[in-house]
Amino acid sequence: MDANRRIEQALDTAVAHAEAPGAPPRLAEAIRYAVFPGGHRIRPRLCLSVARACGDDDPAAADAAACAIELLHCASLVHDDLPCFDDAPMRRGKASVHAAFGEPLAVLTGDALIVTAFETLARGAARSPQRLAALVGLVARAAGSPNGIVAGQAWESELTVALTEYQQAKTGALFAAATVTGAAAAGAPALPWRLLGECLGEAYQVADDLRDVACRQEEVGKPVGRDATLGRPNAAALLGMGGALARLKRLVREAMEVIPTCPGADALRAEIAAQTKLFLPASLVHELA
Ligand code: IPE
Ligand code: IPE
Ligand code: MG
Ligand code: MG
Repeated sequence: MDANRRIEQALDTAVAHAEAPGAPPRLAEAIRYAVFPGGHRIRPRLCLSVARACGDDDPAAADAAACAIELLHCASLVHDDLPCFDDAPMRRGKASVHAAFGEPLAVLTGDALIVTAFETLARGAARSPQRLAALVGLVARAAGSPNGIVAGQAWESELTVALTEYQQAKTGALFAAATVTGAAAAGAPALPWRLLGECLGEAYQVADDLRDVACRQEEVGKPVGRDATLGRPNAAALLGMGGALARLKRLVREAMEVIPTCPGADALRAEIAAQTKLFLPASLVHELA
């Protein structure tokens, strides 16, 4: 089965559990609304690509890891859009979850997705208790503090934060979780894969910062110009458009160089090269070149 189908199917199964008889209907609806239709699905694809490069000998574990990471990402978007964070009325081209369902259900939807992520790991990776334990630890690190999404969002409540520290926590951590869990799900050593994920995650956030400054809402499906309005550290604002593009290119180059030796390294390198070309809309790349 191709990676996209594996991801959508695993997500559908996970969401279906939250829709079982007895679930509050509007919460169940909001959970599905937050996950489907998806956005780029870049993190779970990265996870499955690394698993494949490492042999993918337990596809159910890899699917569970990829799915858990995308569920955490969806949760982070639901919470990030809340009025107390970025106050964004639109996400993925439609009303954000709190705009469609109200704030209480949006908070609970994010909470439920986080719990469902770990439940998914427990269900899908149980064949090898050793791998399951590793996966839970790696995913938890990316979700919490001091290294994960919770820390990334919390830095917005501090007086100062360095750009890289902020971007690594809010975005790099989940990309790093994608690479390390892809390896761990396939029984390979996880840690050599962390740097690849960190480089790609930081690059992706730099690209998102460029989009925030230079794209239109209709192109990206979410409000733009928010970082300036909210006073968030933004690579394009801090380094200039050219400086941010140079940083993006450097990070992608570095990512290519740190791919660990593994049976599928060449195919993985080609896949990552293709994916990173899509980080910015073509119009913006040409404008900045
Ligand atoms: C948006 O991520 C938030 C960032 C960390 C930049 P994505 O661009 O992957 O969001 P979706 O999943 O495609 O909507
Ligand atoms: C992305 O933050 C990281 C999250 C934890 C959601 P942003 O605020 O930059 O993401 P967008 O621009 O809302 O997608
Ligand atoms: Mg935001
Ligand atoms: Mg942004």
